[in-house]
Formats: sequence, structure tokens, C-alpha cells
Amino acid sequence: MADNGKREQWNSRWGLILAMAGNAIGLGNFLRFPVQAAENGGGAYMIPYFVSLLVLGVPLMWIEWGIGRYGGSLGHGTTPGMFDALWKNRAAKYVGILGIFLPLVVLVYYIYICSWTLAFSIFSLFGSYPHPEAGVQALSTAAYLAPYQRYLGDYIGQTTSGAIMSPTPLAYLFFIITLGMGMWILGKGVSKGIEILNKIAIPLLFVFGLVLFVRVLSMSSPTNPDYTAQAGLSFLWEPNLTGLFSAKTWLAAAGQVFFTLSLGMGAIVTYASYMKKDDDIALSGLTAASLNEFAEVIIGSTIALTAAVIFFGLDGARDISHGGAFKLGFISMPAIFTHISYGQFFGFLWFMLLFFAGITSVVALAQPAIAFLEDELGWSRKRSVIALAVFFFGSAHLPMLVSGALDEMDFWAGTFGLVVLAFFEVMIFFWIFGSSNAWEEMQRGAQIKIPKFFFYIMKYVTPVFIAAILMAWTYEQLPGVLAKGDGGIWITRGFLALLLLVHLWLVRVAWKRRRL
Ligand code: TRP
Ligand code: TRP
Repeated sequence: MADNGKREQWNSRWGLILAMAGNAIGLGNFLRFPVQAAENGGGAYMIPYFVSLLVLGVPLMWIEWGIGRYGGSLGHGTTPGMFDALWKNRAAKYVGILGIFLPLVVLVYYIYICSWTLAFSIFSLFGSYPHPEAGVQALSTAAYLAPYQRYLGDYIGQTTSGAIMSPTPLAYLFFIITLGMGMWILGKGVSKGIEILNKIAIPLLFVFGLVLFVRVLSMSSPTNPDYTAQAGLSFLWEPNLTGLFSAKTWLAAAGQVFFTLSLGMGAIVTYASYMKKDDDIALSGLTAASLNEFAEVIIGSTIALTAAVIFFGLDGARDISHGGAFKLGFISMPAIFTHISYGQFFGFLWFMLLFFAGITSVVALAQPAIAFLEDELGWSRKRSVIALAVFFFGSAHLPMLVSGALDEMDFWAGTFGLVVLAFFEVMIFFWIFGSSNAWEEMQRGAQIKIPKFFFYIMKYVTPVFIAAILMAWTYEQLPGVLAKGDGGIWITRGFLALLLLVHLWLVRVAWKRRRL
């Protein structure tokens, strides 16, 4: 319970919608999506993406809002309490620990990545990037990008071979600043901290995004007149049906839909738990999801990828995407900005946009742990926030220092775990709590009627689709992940196992206390 024994609530409907949008809009919209699209053949990816959005993304969004609002009305802000209320089984609360564990693990590396964006916005403003003498005309893409690659590598202290990284003091400092800002906002609470942050950051994010969108579309190539914005756009938007027949493309698209909407993490149910009992779900949930999709498929798909096509051609852009999200965002973009007029300013906008996208997700990922400590253990907000700050400060050293730790955590929590949690959510809500109860719960107070079509989607198609993804991943990716096993990877796995045990223990303690 919160300090005065009453749970907090959102102040306004728009505050809730913007907070939910800020929860969903993250680095994934601007970096992960374009990389996924490029890696899966551009136009071939878009049909599986939109189908997944319709039968997986939007239904799960409503389901999570429904579970969350229901749990909140009973005083539970996290999935252990929610599952326990929906499913009268002793195991329910233990299954529910995923909704606290997963966002915590993601945060262990996400705060650090978020701090890079803050640092790079300042570096852009002061023009501290390398300015190569030979321009992009004279060099190959790889040679032109090399100094920028080194710049990022030096910042995070990545050596080419070493397993231990040594971040610069500046990287350390920006990490502490970012962590401090996040914790400070969380300390102010749901309506006075999180809601106010999102009311400021999300509108600004859209303004910055639209400015960059227009700037990129009006860019012309310094090297080759064939490298146009149009070429970039048609790469993504020219429909290509080959994706329909590729399991890999479907997996990638469905995974991205999960990731971008923040589904299966426990973050949305926690935000929804601060709604009033009869607040609208149908329209608000759809609005928040639409804002995320606008930020993703319109703005996010265009900025970094189209800019890369204009500067480096289709092949160059493909190479860059192949190097991953960080190459696209932190290497290719600075290399482009140093080349255009007012580049320092546009570079600042780009990284500030990423920072706003990131920090609003940071608070969303942290709130489940805080809600658990408050609701189920009766801690005060202040005590919960301090405990978390100490935990993050300590554990973030793992991805900061050990190379490979970030990817390992991203796989277990950010790729695999969220599908597992989503599967439990649908099954518990629609099959155990009951489909007519669930449907009624989602419709109560609704300002639009969810078409009956979605009832059948949620009951049959969504769970089967999720189960198929889970099996395909287990079969396709798990062996590869398990085959990795150097010292750093085992340390990471040990950390994850220990953290899981602590969660089990805390849930046990919380429920024992309740019975006394
Ligand atoms: N949706 C965020 C993005 O697009 C990342 C994310 C995944 C997330 N799950 C989350 C953010 C849960 C906050 C809460 O980058
Ligand atoms: N595996 C991701 C990629 O390169 C990297 C990543 C992890 C990431 N977490 C992220 C990228 C969050 C963006 C946002 O595609």
C-alpha cells in the first residue's frame, strides 16, 4: 500500500494515455524496428508485421489493460497478486514473478544504453565527434564509418578482443546521472512523477521526430544521385510477398510487435493498475498503441534507415543494419550529421529523441518492482526507490564491464521471457478466469465497442500464435544461446538464477505475512 494506505491513481485520461505511450515508445521504435525490417528484406517484413499487430499486439494490449485494472481494484499492482486473484491455485503467484523479474533484468542494461543517448546528445551539441578529412565521396562506407565506430567503442571501453570492458569516466558519470534522474522521477510517484514526465517528454519526442522526419526526407545524397529518400522508402514499403512464406520473418515480426508495445513484461499491467475501476480501456488502449505505431512505422522507420540509404546506398544501409541497432543509431547517424549543415543541432535532436524514448521506458520498467514492494510488502515509496537504486547501481556493472552480458540478458528477458509471460496472461485471463468474465472486464466503461471478432481472436488465435512462437524460438534459437558459455556468460546466468530465487522468496514472504 502507498503511504496513506490508498493506492495512487492517474490524474487524467490523457496523462494515462501518454504514460502508456511512453511505456511503449522506446529505443526499439527508432533502432530495433528499422534494423529488423532491413534484415528481413524490407517490404517482405511489413505484412507479417501488420498481421502480428492485429492478432497479437492489439489483443494483448487490451488483455493487459484488463488484467491490470482488475488487479488494481483489488490492491495488486503486479502479476503475482493479479494471477493469484484470477487463478485460485497456489502456483499462480509464483508464475507471476515474471512480471517483476523481466522488467528488472531488462533495466539492468537498458538504463546504461539510455545513458549513452544522453551523453551523445551533449557530444553532438558540442561537436566533439571526429571530422574525417576525406568525405564520404572518397571513402568506402566501412572506411568512412571507422572513426565513428572507434568513438563509440572508446566511450564504452570495448576492446576488440577483451572480455572485460573499461568504460570511460564520462560513460560512468552519464550512467549515474541517468539512474539518478529515473529514480528521482519514480520517487515523486505515479501522478506527480511518471505522469508529468510523460506529459512533457512524449509531445516533445513527437516534435523532434517530425522535424527529423522532414529533414531526412529533404536530404540529397553527397555521393550518388540514385541514392534518394524515395529509394529508402520504397525499400520498406514496396510490398514483397516472400515474407509470407518465411518462418524467420514471421518470428522477427511477431517478436518486434511484442517488444515495441512493451507486452509480456508486466509494465503495462502495472500502469493499468493505477486506473479507476470503470475507466475506459478499449479506446485508451487503442490510442496508446496507435501513438506507438505512428512513432514506429512512420517516424522510426524513416529517420535512421532512409538517412543511411541516402548516404551509403541500399547496400551500405544493409551492411549497417546488419551491424545491429547500435551501429545504425550511434555510428551511422553521427557520421551523417557531421556531414550536413546544422548537423550539431540535428544530432542533438536525434539523441534527445532517443533519450526521451528511453527514460520514459526506464520508469515504466521500474514501476512494477516498486508496486510490488509497496502493495505486497507494505514498504513506503521512498524505501522502495532507494532499494531499487542500490540494486541497479550494483547490477549494472555486469553489462558495463562484462562483454556479452547485455546480449545474454536481452535474450532471456527481452526476447524469450516476455513471450512466456504473455502466454500465461492469455491463458489465465481467457481460459481460467473465463472468456466471458474477461470480455466483460475489458468492456466495462468502454467508450468504443471492441468488435466481437476480437473475442475469438483472443480466445483462440492469440494463444495458439504465442505457443507457436515459443516453440519456434525454443527450437531455433535456444540451442545457439545455450552453446555459448564463456566465463562472462556463466556469471550472467548465475546472476539471473540468483535474482529469480530472490523473487520466489519475496513472494513467499509476502503471502505468508498476509495469512497471519
Ligand atoms: N517498448 C520498448 C521499446 O520499444 C522496450 C520495452 C520492452 C519496454 N518492454 C518494455 C519498455 C517494458 C518499458 C517497459 O524500446
Ligand atoms: N539485440 C538488440 C539489437 O541489436 C540490441 C538491443 C538490446 C537493443 N536491447 C535493446 C536495441 C533495446 C534497442 C533497444 O537489435
